[in-house]
Amino acid sequence: MKYKTLKGLQDILPPDISVWQHIEAAARGIFRAYGYQEIRLPILEATDIFIRSIGETSDIVEKEMYTFPDKGGRSVTMRPEGTAPFVRAYVEHHLYNNPSPQKYYYMGPMFRYERPQAYRYRQFCQIGAEAMGVEDPKLDAEVISMLAKILAVIGLERLNFEITSIGCKNCRPSYREALKVFLRGRLSSFCGDCQRRFDSNPLRVLDCKVPECISARQGSPPVIEYLCADCKTHFEGLEHNLNLLGVPHTVNPNLVRGLDYYTKTAFEVSSESLGAQKAVAAGGRYDGLVDEFGGPPTPGIGFALGMERIIPLVKDSLKPSGGPDLFICCMGREASEEALSLAEQLRTRGLWVEINYDNASLKSQMRKANRMGAENIFVIGEDELKNKQGVLKNMTDKSEININLLSDEFIKAMKKEK
Ligand code: HAM
Repeated sequence: MKYKTLKGLQDILPPDISVWQHIEAAARGIFRAYGYQEIRLPILEATDIFIRSIGETSDIVEKEMYTFPDKGGRSVTMRPEGTAPFVRAYVEHHLYNNPSPQKYYYMGPMFRYERPQAYRYRQFCQIGAEAMGVEDPKLDAEVISMLAKILAVIGLERLNFEITSIGCKNCRPSYREALKVFLRGRLSSFCGDCQRRFDSNPLRVLDCKVPECISARQGSPPVIEYLCADCKTHFEGLEHNLNLLGVPHTVNPNLVRGLDYYTKTAFEVSSESLGAQKAVAAGGRYDGLVDEFGGPPTPGIGFALGMERIIPLVKDSLKPSGGPDLFICCMGREASEEALSLAEQLRTRGLWVEINYDNASLKSQMRKANRMGAENIFVIGEDELKNKQGVLKNMTDKSEININLLSDEFIKAMKKEK
């Protein structure tokens, strides 16, 4: 084969696409109930946006970004995630002037040059949500509850909701110091990246995937024990409200996020069915990011779910999309013109109608209708042309009715299975 998709990228074809559309529609329904509005942002952004927010020493920025100079020599990056572009847009369009909370959602491709493996792609699609302007942990609980609802409505079960707090700019320095004290004595057991990042960002050591680093950091102090009073109260509030809303969760003091912008609440939803790449969704609070991007200090919280990790979990339980509502078979030139115009009129009324375009025999037209999974078949021959009526055959229950073309019963008969 001459051309193929690039490594780590994939085409999404029917019938899989119907599963995607089903999830997107389910998510839109839930977002609407919570007052989230859709935003669509560019795929390409100035590179600096990601460096400033995700962090210079993060794996994403150091190793995984699709960054290149555009023809004007500016460094641009294909977005590896949606929060930084969202906050850029939030500040650029002064959305903070609108009443809080401001709530938005997005769906679209993200790009990370990671080593492809099962459920890990270089182009992957996220459904993300961001809520701005409220500091109270009621919002954190509501955001997590909304995520739980989306996952439940698409039929995902046995998921682990893990939460933690990673503190704020007030308590982080003392945690950093405690972590450095712990790491210093055993630094030689860590990989080169961790050793290099030790001074600039020791917290990244907690996120390293190298097996030696995972075992060397066993017993490191958990950040949750170093929270300031404000972060502690916030985290207790989060737990209280999650319990109030009935969202089952566990506290995982070792939960770390690969992005630097988080403050206080961080969470991850995982499924054991996925193996190594088990995070189906993740998110957290980022109370300093709007400020960092030049806007007025505004708290924010959000999450993103990974479509490619959710699809394999829901696929079996979803109804296949089915075939056309009607396949019109026709015999002869006049009948085929009648089929063409009849199909056009029925499509205007919202039905999926297919016709035959060549001189194939009736038998082969029937076979084709069957293969397409048509729910009804109507044959136009000489009699049907003359009398403007004929037999509508239902392929599911094999019933047949004599019916007038374009009559209301005709339309109803086809819509009844819906
Ligand atoms: P993240 O944890 O980097 O967070 O990604 C969120 C989700 O995207 C992951 O849990 C996973 O399901 C999916 N994902 C990430 N990388 C890949 C990949 N290479 N292949 C397939 N799926 C992947 C963020 O992106 C944050 N922006 C989330 C957020 C929104 N935080 C606050 N607001």
